Amino acid sequence: MAEAKAPQQRGGNADNVFTEDPAETGLRFEVDGEIATITLDRPDKRNAQTFATWSALARIGDDLPDRVRVVVVRGEGPSFSAGIDLRMFTPEGVPGQGSFSSTARLGAAAFEQRLRQAQRGFLWLRRPEIVSIAAVQGHAIGAGFQLALACDLRIVADDVKFCMKEPALGLVPDLTGTKPLVELVGLAKAIDICLTARTVEADEAQRIGLAEQVVARDGLDRAVHDKIAGLLSTNRDAAAATKRLLQGARSRTLEEQCAAEGAEQAERLRALFSSQP
Ligand code: CAA
Repeated sequence: MAEAKAPQQRGGNADNVFTEDPAETGLRFEVDGEIATITLDRPDKRNAQTFATWSALARIGDDLPDRVRVVVVRGEGPSFSAGIDLRMFTPEGVPGQGSFSSTARLGAAAFEQRLRQAQRGFLWLRRPEIVSIAAVQGHAIGAGFQLALACDLRIVADDVKFCMKEPALGLVPDLTGTKPLVELVGLAKAIDICLTARTVEADEAQRIGLAEQVVARDGLDRAVHDKIAGLLSTNRDAAAATKRLLQGARSRTLEEQCAAEGAEQAERLRALFSSQP
């Protein structure tokens, strides 16, 4: 569906060319018109993620061409992602990226900086100007689950297995996943899922609001394609304004939300009709 791509200056319109080494980042990135696709591409290691993966995600977000309206995050092979590369738990770590034991020895400021950089790779997927879709098959564990949670929508295959494994490994989920999880499923269910590190399969995922849609494994690409067609059928600026409204709704009072609706609509009306006599 796409041209091989790359980061460019945000705000530019030239094709981008993702020059980073997929062997290092575990990612492919392609842009086809208004659609960008990020593919986790280490299927032989179940798309395990490293700091290089998260830094590359952040750079993709920094340099996303303005024309992109939909970002698809998908995984090659049987699993969406088995989470963080387990070599991080070994003394040797991931070559060139350290290990958890070296991370544990970082000062507070250096740790904070490293984590913020990793989280940046996830946060941009919530931007109002885009809709992000996680296409999830097989396992989505730990960082894989959190990457799916970073997206606006999750379309999943019927073999999906979400698991927030971090507490079982002595860690907390720290890649931006806790807030969307609570917002999607509620506090009690989020506690249940995280503190038991149990697996959530497709039926439950749909029932509790983790997944918008469950489809057969071989129908996943088609379902994502159809969703994209629907998303691209609306006006770009109205879609961004509406997403801003929806994202802010929970933290505003009804009165504040009504005012925000008015402000966005005034802007829309000006944009659409101010040049008419
Ligand atoms: N890191 C590195 N390699 C991994 C991996 C991971 N997270 N998960 C799987 N692999 C590798 C396996 O070692 C194996 O490699 P080899 O062929 O070289 O032996 C290959 O991928 C295939 O793995 P399996 O044979 O186990 O594949 P499977 O389909 O039978 O099982 C699985 C898939 C259930 C995901 C299983 O591999 C598994 O449980 N993986 C570990 C999951 C995990 O604990 N992840 C950490 C989550 S916590 C987190 O992410 C923390 C954080 O952000 C801070």
